Amino acid sequence: MTVVLKLGGSVITEKDEPETVDQAALSAAVSAIAESAVSDDIILVHGGGSFGHHHAAEYGVSTTEGTHDVSGVQTIHGAMCRLNAAVVDELTDQGVPAVPVHPFSAAARDADGGLSLPTAQVTTLLDEGFVPVLHGDLVAHAGAGVTVLSGDELIVELAPAVDSDRIGVCSTVPGVLDEEGTVIDRIQSFDAVASALGGSDATDVSGGMAGKVRALLALSAPAVVFGPDALPAFLAGESPGTTIAGDDDD
Ligand code: IPE
Repeated sequence: MTVVLKLGGSVITEKDEPETVDQAALSAAVSAIAESAVSDDIILVHGGGSFGHHHAAEYGVSTTEGTHDVSGVQTIHGAMCRLNAAVVDELTDQGVPAVPVHPFSAAARDADGGLSLPTAQVTTLLDEGFVPVLHGDLVAHAGAGVTVLSGDELIVELAPAVDSDRIGVCSTVPGVLDEEGTVIDRIQSFDAVASALGGSDATDVSGGMAGKVRALLALSAPAVVFGPDALPAFLAGESPGTTIAGDDDD
């Protein structure tokens, strides 16, 4: 079984406190991962939370708005590397053979925003028994300088490359919510849920839940969005929260 799992930035950081890891939440998530990493191949992607979004907003950078400001690039990427190191350290402490993979060093966007992301290093690391840990980052963007590369974009690229059987997105909410705050069980098209998907509460430069749903609908396999409490259930093979499966999905 090959699992691609994204840990939302707001799950593992204090989203309103700049550059602050939520150590208790990170350690709880990692202990669920440590258990299932024994039997499954896992590729981890984590978001930016308070390491990414505050800095990105400060420099006016999003997935579409770029910058040529070198100190902005160093600040945003540097913060994401610090969060990645904290995640890899916790995984290592709990016995997971985790290694960092920094997307900024490898990916590029063309002038139309099309993403190219080499994945041979990820598949090779996986074959060699490692758990690659990628993260939302910056990306070189033709004509725009650099823009934000979200963790959701990364899982869309990685899931087919590693022939993933299960895709999970662990978010702070228990799934995608409708206007009444009830978890939507299954989403098959964006239009059907567009009105229910508002913006994100905290600063989010990569599109909040609406952007997430759009990205996950683009996958050729179903993806599951769930809250931190349901991470052990997801890793045990259940589908808690919301299953997002476009028309072309299995
Ligand atoms: C954002 O990544 C990365 C930066 C802002 C540099 P994500 O968009 O995947 O992060 P979260 O999960 O929403 O925090």
